[in-house]
Amino acid sequence: MMVRLILLFFIFFLALRPSYTRPAPYALRISCGARNDVHSPPTNTLWNKDFAYTGGIPTNGTRPSFITPPLQTLRYFPLSDGPENCYNINRVPKGHYSVRIFFGLVSEPNFDNEPLFDVSVEGTQIYSLQSGWSNHDDEQIFVEALIFLTDGSASLCFHSTGHGDPAILSIEILQVDDRAYNFGPQFGQGTILRTDRRLSCGAEKPRFDVDYSGDHWGGDRFWNPITTFGQRSDRTITTKSSIKQSSNSPNFYPEALYQTALASTNNQPDLEYTMDVDPNRNYSIWLHFAEIDPLVTSTGQRVFDILINGDVTFQDVDIANMSGDINTAFVLNKTIAVNGRTLTITMHPTKGHALINAVEIFEVIVAESKTLPDEVRALQTLKNALGLPLRFGWNGDPCVPQQHPWSGADCQFDRTSSKWVIDGLGLDNQGLRGLLPNDMSKLRHLQSINLSGNSIRGPIPSSLGAVTSLEKLDLSYNFFNGSIPESLGQLTSLQILNLNGNSLSGRVPAALGGRLLHRASFNFTDNAGLCGIPGLPTCGPHLSLGAKIGIASGSCVALLLIFTCLMCWWKRRQNILRAQRIAARDAPYAKARTQFSRDVQMARHHGHENARTATENGPSLLS
Ligand SMILES: *[C@@H]1O[C@H](CO)[C@@H](O)[C@H](O)[C@H]1NC(C)=O
Ligand SMILES: *[C@@H]1O[C@H](CO)[C@@H](O)[C@H](O)[C@H]1NC(C)=O
Ligand SMILES: *[C@@H]1O[C@H](CO)[C@@H](O)[C@H](O)[C@H]1NC(C)=O
Ligand SMILES: *[C@@H]1O[C@H](CO)[C@@H](O)[C@H](O)[C@H]1NC(C)=O
Ligand SMILES: *[C@@H]1O[C@H](CO)[C@@H](O)[C@H](O)[C@H]1NC(C)=O
Ligand SMILES: *[C@@H]1O[C@H](CO)[C@@H](O)[C@H](O)[C@H]1NC(C)=O
Ligand SMILES: *[C@@H]1O[C@H](CO)[C@@H](O)[C@H](O)[C@H]1NC(C)=O
Repeated sequence: MMVRLILLFFIFFLALRPSYTRPAPYALRISCGARNDVHSPPTNTLWNKDFAYTGGIPTNGTRPSFITPPLQTLRYFPLSDGPENCYNINRVPKGHYSVRIFFGLVSEPNFDNEPLFDVSVEGTQIYSLQSGWSNHDDEQIFVEALIFLTDGSASLCFHSTGHGDPAILSIEILQVDDRAYNFGPQFGQGTILRTDRRLSCGAEKPRFDVDYSGDHWGGDRFWNPITTFGQRSDRTITTKSSIKQSSNSPNFYPEALYQTALASTNNQPDLEYTMDVDPNRNYSIWLHFAEIDPLVTSTGQRVFDILINGDVTFQDVDIANMSGDINTAFVLNKTIAVNGRTLTITMHPTKGHALINAVEIFEVIVAESKTLPDEVRALQTLKNALGLPLRFGWNGDPCVPQQHPWSGADCQFDRTSSKWVIDGLGLDNQGLRGLLPNDMSKLRHLQSINLSGNSIRGPIPSSLGAVTSLEKLDLSYNFFNGSIPESLGQLTSLQILNLNGNSLSGRVPAALGGRLLHRASFNFTDNAGLCGIPGLPTCGPHLSLGAKIGIASGSCVALLLIFTCLMCWWKRRQNILRAQRIAARDAPYAKARTQFSRDVQMARHHGHENARTATENGPSLLS
């Protein structure tokens, strides 16, 4: 009844819809490894030349199957380029997308032929390649997922698992309707649907939507043909009649999908499809029907129940009745948890025979939260500043997929922001060089940093004092110089501080020195000249700014005084010299005067009058 109401609503909506055509969906296709744009037959599809990759090597590839796009090149990622490599595609409008990646094989004969690796999209692992994938002409040669891209970019990463080098032939990012494949309450930004398979029942050939001239908003799905479910007497039915209600928003299923079907016969009334699945996952199952059997002309002639893994999921399905007419499409969907390794869909008729046109199976994957963007940027700055070796990877997201975190970065889930944060950095003895960037303070959840045993030079950034959660800071055995920033004194949680084996000098901040009393383990030995705490030499007098100003002005006054004295001395000396010169010139007179003084001195003993005259003359010569 509900389905009928929805359908009626759609018909109503379509009838009212003005003759406006929707703009074309966003579509980006990349031919990996290609130096130039490529146009592929038969639709002249544009594949962009390779861009947005983080590493890897372009080379010629072989197409493992005829359904892979007709592209000659691929990009592969040797382990020496790091364990994870990505394509980071920017300027992707916010929306709902079908993201598809075709795998390739490097054409050189001495190559390990079939690499096995993991694939993640936006930090969520969506697929692990299974051995034997390259021998299948079906969904196993690509991975496809429906995902909401909300931050203007798409990050697709390939994670080495030690079984060959990931090799990628093509990437497609195709926008679909925002409501496409709405499988129920869980649908939205928190979930990703990975396409497990799409079966076009009764069809002879594999087809993409584009082969069916399907609407571009459908996302160019791949439909694998299936002519029997492996039972004794499945029967294929085909029609050339046009199908009502196909190619409708939001899923735009191609009409041709409903023009073929599989039906059961008297020999075996049940129609049953069984497939292998990974246990303990949720699967979203979409079943497509249209009453195209010419023998069934009205409602009530074909009625069946649908069981999924033995549970009746849809009861009394009457295609003609539920779709409203014969040759009319309708879709049922159901999401179930599968505990075992198989998924079985059974159509059990209660009237007539069972019939089905198409099956879609998706794995429902809970999308991972990413790492706080500020912290990702800070790690990238650190990666560049310290010249982190390629083998570290450090592409994509640091913490997710959780199966492949960055080595050297410890992650923790922060419940308040619902994001991952970095709480530890362990990059000791990695041959790092360069300067420690100020940006490190953006890693404000760090509890421990170990950069011991590298060749990092320059100052210890004072911004580290802002990482207040820091408990362990080991910068020992590097080439840090300058003084220990005062700000480190603000790190009140610091338990271990190893700065030994550097070229640091100057006074250890008093706030750190004081902490030594509280069972903290600090090591400042083997430096260029640290001072000021027990165990290190004492520093020169510690001077405040006021004292420094005092000393400076004091010195100025002293200098002025010395200068004045010097001036006085010099002037006096000049006078003496002048006096001597005068004396030398008037030598006879001087002699006479000396004589005279002597006379006066001798006269002193005799009378006061003469003595006074003589001494009054004397000083006048010297002044
Ligand atoms: C790829 O193939 C082309 C010719 O098809 C050849 O010219 C080129 O050298 C090959 N490149 C590599 C890396 O093998
Ligand atoms: C799929 O099923 C869910 C719940 O059973 C329903 O809410 C939703 O409308 C269905 N989607 C479509 C497109 O029929
Ligand atoms: C499957 O879905 C249920 C609820 O819909 C959820 O609780 C469970 O965690 C899901 N399982 C997996 C493996 O995603
Ligand atoms: C579908 O079946 C119901 C009850 O069996 C009936 O009332 C209704 O008219 C049928 N609808 C169509 C389109 O045949
Ligand atoms: C840092 O790493 C070095 C060398 O690997 C190790 O000896 C030291 O104990 C580590 N420091 C801390 C604080 O764990
Ligand atoms: C630290 O070392 C660098 C060279 O690595 C030098 O340019 C700089 O002047 C030094 N700084 C101090 C404070 O000694
Ligand atoms: C401090 O480091 C030096 C080497 O630089 C080492 O010999 C010493 O044992 C360390 N002291 C402590 C208390 O760990």
